[in-house]
Amino acid sequence: MDLTDLPISAFIAPTGHNRAAVAPLLGQALRLALDYATQAVDHSPLPTEQPPLPATSLPEQGLPEQQLLAHLRTLITASMHPAHPGYIGHMDSLPTTMSLVGDLLSAAVNNNMLSIEMSPAFSRLEWATLRELAQLFGLGPRAGGLLLSGGSLANLEALAIARNHILDLSDGALTSLSTRPVLFASEAAHTSLQKAAMLLGLGNQAVIPVPLDTDGHLDTRRLPELIEQAQERGARPFCIVATAGTTVAGLIDPLAPIAAIARRYGLWFHVDAAYGGALVFSERLRPRLAGIEEADSLTFNPQKWLYVAKTCAMLLLRDSSLFSSAFRIPAPYMRQQPEETDPAAPPTNLGEIGLQGTRHSDILKLWLSLQHLGRRGYARLVEEGCRLASLAYARLRTLPELRFAHAPETNLLCFRAEPAWLPPAAHDALNARLQTALLEQERIFLSLPSYQGKRWLRAVLLNPYTDEEIIDRLQAALERLIAQEHQRGASQSRS
Ligand SMILES: Cc1ncc(COP(=O)(O)O)c(C=O)c1O
Repeated sequence: MDLTDLPISAFIAPTGHNRAAVAPLLGQALRLALDYATQAVDHSPLPTEQPPLPATSLPEQGLPEQQLLAHLRTLITASMHPAHPGYIGHMDSLPTTMSLVGDLLSAAVNNNMLSIEMSPAFSRLEWATLRELAQLFGLGPRAGGLLLSGGSLANLEALAIARNHILDLSDGALTSLSTRPVLFASEAAHTSLQKAAMLLGLGNQAVIPVPLDTDGHLDTRRLPELIEQAQERGARPFCIVATAGTTVAGLIDPLAPIAAIARRYGLWFHVDAAYGGALVFSERLRPRLAGIEEADSLTFNPQKWLYVAKTCAMLLLRDSSLFSSAFRIPAPYMRQQPEETDPAAPPTNLGEIGLQGTRHSDILKLWLSLQHLGRRGYARLVEEGCRLASLAYARLRTLPELRFAHAPETNLLCFRAEPAWLPPAAHDALNARLQTALLEQERIFLSLPSYQGKRWLRAVLLNPYTDEEIIDRLQAALERLIAQEHQRGASQSRS
């Protein structure tokens, strides 16, 4: 093909003849990434204004590289900056360095996780690595899993497999059922469960909310009665979902008692450990996950507390043969692999047993990060996050106007100002003002989730560069801002 109309660096020539033109472009992109990453503290954790977007209409003639790099710089600057140590609002952190290496190389190789033929090394790497992680969670010798693009997809596939297996639906059609399948999850469980139920044809009302106990956990005393009530109504319970690391408060449901209830009623036990699963790396903290080893299926997102760049999430099954018997749709257009004797080899093309077809090789950045930091490195990170959350809890509890949703069980802390001098109806707006002021004046970003009908300030102490100095500043700033609010209120009522 005559490529003279294209920029000389449009592709990297497999013969290497345009290497001299491509190398400076990649060099500049790498410098941009490094400049950005090494100067993240110079930005606000979250931009308060957005510059105009660069042109998005399709140019007739391609733009010069330098112009595109300049646009990139603007877009990056206008982005959220989870690398900033004051960014403590969400479950997003700066990525491991190996995530950048892995994603760059993944793009260079551009394999496809759909089939073993199209990713011969990476499919094997994924299956073998996830078998190891399943062992770390204690899921037993038959366990295995695969990666998906996010915890929502992992939860969706888990529920599809649970439904097909427990209800014995050979083709997944609900029409053969005379009763309505339902599942149970706490009121604090992630909304992806409702999405999954909607997509699986169960309807989002099929997720029966289990009330929380006073500590914010799924109330196991209420669960049997809710299961029996559903049975009496003619519904067909098939699954219980426990959460290890709730989205808003980072709490861990009592996994062992929930597993026992699931066994008693013959239900599938899914653990959504998208966030809290990372505790498994710490010998000291993993007892908090006691009972996770009983899971039939487990969602875990390394893109959260393992600091692997987005996206990287997984679904693990206690019995990995269920991927084939309860989910697989063969792809006849893909070469089938000969029977393998190597247990580390995937049983079939991953795209046949996974929700996604063509898929990015997220395994590279996950495997690199695990090998680079090691179990001890991750143990240190999760332990330090939990230590900081406890410290923040102790420091902020000295402010009498603050109320805490719960004592922290992971590295999340959820609190709100409820001063007696302001009517309760005005508390949500006060907390929203505190959030804005913390960002503008202190470059500390907390999120403002809705929880139990109220607005809360939420800190996720994830970033390894967030330290005690930020906690001290947060405490001092909250004290000052609340006092200013009090004064402002007092002078308004005088005038
Ligand atoms: C407990 C829990 N489960 C599932 C999810 C969904 O994960 P994702 O956003 O990767 O789809 C989240 C996201 O925050 C979560 O906190």
